[in-house]
Parts: sequence; structure tokens; C-alpha cells
Amino acid sequence: MKNIVVLVSGGGTNLQALIDAEARGEIPNGKITCVIASNAEAYALTRAKQNHIKTRVLVRKEYATIQSYSAAMVEALHEENADLVIYAGFMTILDEQVTNAFPFKMMNVHPALIPSFCGKGFYGLHVHKEALKRGVKLTGATVHFVTEVCDGGPIILQAAVPVLENDTPEILQRRVMEECEWKLLPRAAALFCDGKITVKDGIVHIAVSYTHLTLPTIR
Ligand code: GAR
Repeated sequence: MKNIVVLVSGGGTNLQALIDAEARGEIPNGKITCVIASNAEAYALTRAKQNHIKTRVLVRKEYATIQSYSAAMVEALHEENADLVIYAGFMTILDEQVTNAFPFKMMNVHPALIPSFCGKGFYGLHVHKEALKRGVKLTGATVHFVTEVCDGGPIILQAAVPVLENDTPEILQRRVMEECEWKLLPRAAALFCDGKITVKDGIVHIAVSYTHLTLPTIR
């Protein structure tokens, strides 16, 4: 059984999707053992407590530099014996101390089809505002491994949704979450915990057959 540590900063709907998937038996070889928040007010902490999951808070502002914050994060992740670290709406970019300590053992969910609308400054609602501004007709979500390049690690899973005529950033965000993020992230966690994911020359290979990237139901 793999220990999953989830990093959060906000509302935690992706954390909830992971909790619900685990409860339904959809992550048979993984268990969420700890949730670490970057701020004490994150509602994600309440979700963790309601589900009797251990919580920790590492407040970014209490550390003078990103280096000292990243060092504290590595220590916390080692203390929690993390096998898989999931960024679920975690809004702090950690340095290479963290990615070096957990190579291809950290995954992030990003609310766009990488390589579109990603990198520094593209987070949360901003991503959907930019997608609407550009007039794309399809958007979606990406789960990828975390490397030292922001949103640049190997892509694990993607799913797409249409952008509709009267979408606001909030409406589009909700569609991307419901139809993409909340399905992809638990699925990626399950595949990792089942040992089905390998990375070769920067490309993820998944040892199960599935039909099409826009269909998040993967057999
Ligand atoms: C999600 O849409 C997630 O993809 C995004 O923040 C939201 C967090 O929501 N993450 C990023 O933009 C990271 N670059 P949640 O706290 O309800 O899961």
C-alpha cells in the first residue's frame, strides 16, 4: 500500500475527489495518509479532518526563502513516508530540492491542456480567463509529473471539454473540474499506486489500454 500525501492551498475539491475515489475502492493500492496545506485557512484542511486524515500546515510566509520552505517540505514528506505526493491546488512553486527528493513521485493537476495556458502565473481562475480571452474552443485538464520546470513535467493524463458561447471563467472552471480534474486525478493516483506508470525519455507510458484522451473513463 502506497502512502499518498496531498498538498493543498485552497478549497480542496480535488482532494475531495481523491478522498471519495479512495472510499469507493478506486485507489486499491494507495491511501491518503496526510494532507499538507500552505496556509492554515485552506478549507481543504476541514475536508481532511472530516475524513480523519492527518493534517499539517507549512505556512509559506513563515519561511524567508523558497529554499528554506522547500527544505522544510522535503523533511515533512520524509517524515510522512510519502510514496506519492499530489499537488491538488497547491499554489507554491517548490524548488529542485523537492523534485530531486521525489523524482517522478510527485504529480500535479493543472486546469488546462498543457502546453497551453501553463507555466508561471497560470493558476486557478486566471487559466480560464486566458482561455476565454484567446477564444479556444476546447480546453481541459492535465495531470503531470512535477519537475523543476513549472508545469513542464511528463504528462500522465489529459481530458478535454468544449468551451461554450456564454461561458464565464467560473462556469468554465466548474466544467473543467467536474468533467476532467476530478476524474483524472484519482485515476492517475490509482495507476501510479498500481505500478502502471513508467517514464522513458520524458514520455509517460501507461500499462493499460484505454480508448481516447477525451474520455476520462479508462479501462
Ligand atoms: C484546480 O482547478 C487546480 O487545477 C488548480 O487550482 C484549482 C484548485 O481547486 N491548480 C492550479 O492552477 C495549479 N497551477 P481545489 O482547491 O478545489 O482543488
